[in-house]
Amino acid sequence: MKHYTHINDLGNLQESVQEAIALKESQTKDKALGEGKTICLLFFNNSLRTRLSTQKAAQNLGMNAIVMNFGSEGWELEFEDGIVMNQNKSEHIKEAAKVIAQYCDIVAIRAFAKLESKEKDYQEAVINGFIKYAGIPVVNMESAIGHPLQALADAITIEEFKTKKNPKIVLSWAPHPKALPHAVANSFVEMMALQEANFVITHPKGYELDAKITKNATIEYNQDKAFKNADFIYVKNWSSFKDYGQVLNTDVNWMITADKMKLTNNAKFMHCLPVRRNVIVSDEVLDSKNSIVIEQANNRTFAAQIVLKRILENSVTSSAVES
Ligand code: CP
Repeated sequence: MKHYTHINDLGNLQESVQEAIALKESQTKDKALGEGKTICLLFFNNSLRTRLSTQKAAQNLGMNAIVMNFGSEGWELEFEDGIVMNQNKSEHIKEAAKVIAQYCDIVAIRAFAKLESKEKDYQEAVINGFIKYAGIPVVNMESAIGHPLQALADAITIEEFKTKKNPKIVLSWAPHPKALPHAVANSFVEMMALQEANFVITHPKGYELDAKITKNATIEYNQDKAFKNADFIYVKNWSSFKDYGQVLNTDVNWMITADKMKLTNNAKFMHCLPVRRNVIVSDEVLDSKNSIVIEQANNRTFAAQIVLKRILENSVTSSAVES
């Protein structure tokens, strides 16, 4: 695997999930693989889990990790070709990406959707700019469209907690005062397409995700109906995709409560975090024994570790072929 920008880059998802679970027993067994290698983690947006878990994964593999809050500390980047740079942007991606590649072997990037223009967000200028100009492997730590490291951690968590071959898994929208991107929900749907499960998405009308991503998924607009017999409830807010970036609905009845969870088959509760208590989910549910959000967050390390391991293994193979 050269880059990790999408869950499909892994190839066989189940193999990666099983390898990640096995890795937990011996977290530093591949320490020699990353010895002498460096990863740069560039954050154009805030993070807790992604930053710490990816750093820990790199360390488990023997790598050095350099972290930069690019959004607040880096020069503002220009991505357009042929532009006269006489406004506020100080450095072009062409130089920035090539310079960063001098200091590291892998670059990992977080650059959220701005939710101002669907067309601009979908160009994925930051991730694609680094892929085009850096010449080193690029890892997506949440881009405008996807969060594949989160999706892999979610797959690991589901595998660990499922008690049947074909669990019912529900992705539910919940209300939020701010407009949030679609990345986590998109990658979760894409990951579910690779799983054996009865998968249902529930959200109010107007909150349909990109139809290209949900094309094979079941959508149920009645949340109570969707929750019936569910084994996992995965909750996330996202803004409207059609009315791009708009908050169309803040109906508190969509919040996940103990009464809603009673409709399920004693379902496990999942959320990628951070989560707003008593907005997205009630305290009662988040603090219940069925909530597996901490285990889910823990799995972010092993998801990142599998991804970095695959990239390092690929670079060893590529160097052997070249020499
Ligand atoms: N779930 C997740 O990506 O968390 P952070 O935004 O804190 O990294």
